[in-house]
Amino acid sequence: MKNIAVGIIGTGSYLPPTILTNRDLEKMVDTSDEWIRTRSGIMERRITGPDIATSDMAAEAARRAMDDAKITPEEIDLIIVGTVTPDNAYPSTACTVQRKIGAVNAAAFDLAAGCSGYMYSLAVGTQFIKTGFYKKVLVIGGDNLSKFTDWTDRATCVLFGDGAGAAVLSEVEEGYGLLSFHLGADGSGGDLLILPAGGSRMPASEETVRQRLHYTRMNGHEVYKFAVRVMDKAVKEALEKIGMKPEDLDYLVPHQANIRIINHAARRLKIPTEKVFVNIHKYANTSAGSIAIALDEAKRQGMIKRGDIVAFVGFGAGLTWGAGVCRWV
Ligand code: UT7
Repeated sequence: MKNIAVGIIGTGSYLPPTILTNRDLEKMVDTSDEWIRTRSGIMERRITGPDIATSDMAAEAARRAMDDAKITPEEIDLIIVGTVTPDNAYPSTACTVQRKIGAVNAAAFDLAAGCSGYMYSLAVGTQFIKTGFYKKVLVIGGDNLSKFTDWTDRATCVLFGDGAGAAVLSEVEEGYGLLSFHLGADGSGGDLLILPAGGSRMPASEETVRQRLHYTRMNGHEVYKFAVRVMDKAVKEALEKIGMKPEDLDYLVPHQANIRIINHAARRLKIPTEKVFVNIHKYANTSAGSIAIALDEAKRQGMIKRGDIVAFVGFGAGLTWGAGVCRWV
């Protein structure tokens, strides 16, 4: 069987226009700009209003990625949306996006892997092209966490933002594109980052609403420890599979959850900070949107050029983690 090289031929992203600053949050909960900046690196985040849901952000990011890739919606064979904040439990957000962008020939499904949703979706989408099953796959990572945030809980509400990013995958020149992935999961840590109610385990009731169980619950400190454990390891695993080392990397695009986590991973990988993309100060943690948005921005700012070896890495609810390595096309 021919080894089909698969790469990202277009990217796009969408951030809602409304900005919520740390100063705004100071008026809502007992927090300070100084605490948020020093503990996380976040200065502001984008927030949707009632008119924007995950599919709206995902569809706009997708349109921009298709423009960038110079392809039409009809050429898309498959849409994968990595999200844990779908518009509805069903239909899938991917099906809603399919309708919105007019990708009439595409199959569509959602993939839930928390903040690792984009990494998982990228890895899955790549396989469909590698096997020759599909030619063009649209991979989107996006979340609308503000709708699932307890705005009275200072431990979580300062950390998250909304947004989506998209990538078009296609066959590319041999030796280029997505070269390796490493995905992992540890379900034993599921309770550390969880939306307790609204699913089949704890259906919505007056009581669940009263107890605020439809909002994100997180043990931030434990998630932090997990993140610093897996970030650099995941990158090294993905590199090892293709006989590469961290020093071969030209650029790292990490999940934007906390600047301290990013810096820790960079230090462990011995990558200088100028080779690490950071936009957490502007958007906070956009969950599955984070790496997709960061990659799109890095590309648009001219930081990634053809032939560069670029790694992506993320972690999140599940617990899950994922890394990928590509030679940029
Ligand atoms: O994509 C995955 C999603 N999740 C994450 O990435 C989260 C990973 N974790 C983190 O980023 C960090 O653990 C946090 C930023 C959440 C917290 O930083 P930390 O250095 O681990 O702080 P901490 O949890 O140990 O809390 C320190 C103190 C506590 O007070 P006491 O108990 O020491 O008196 C908290 O109550 O900071 C307090 N605190 C706050 N203070 C002001 C917690 N949240 C806030 C806040 N403003 N917003």
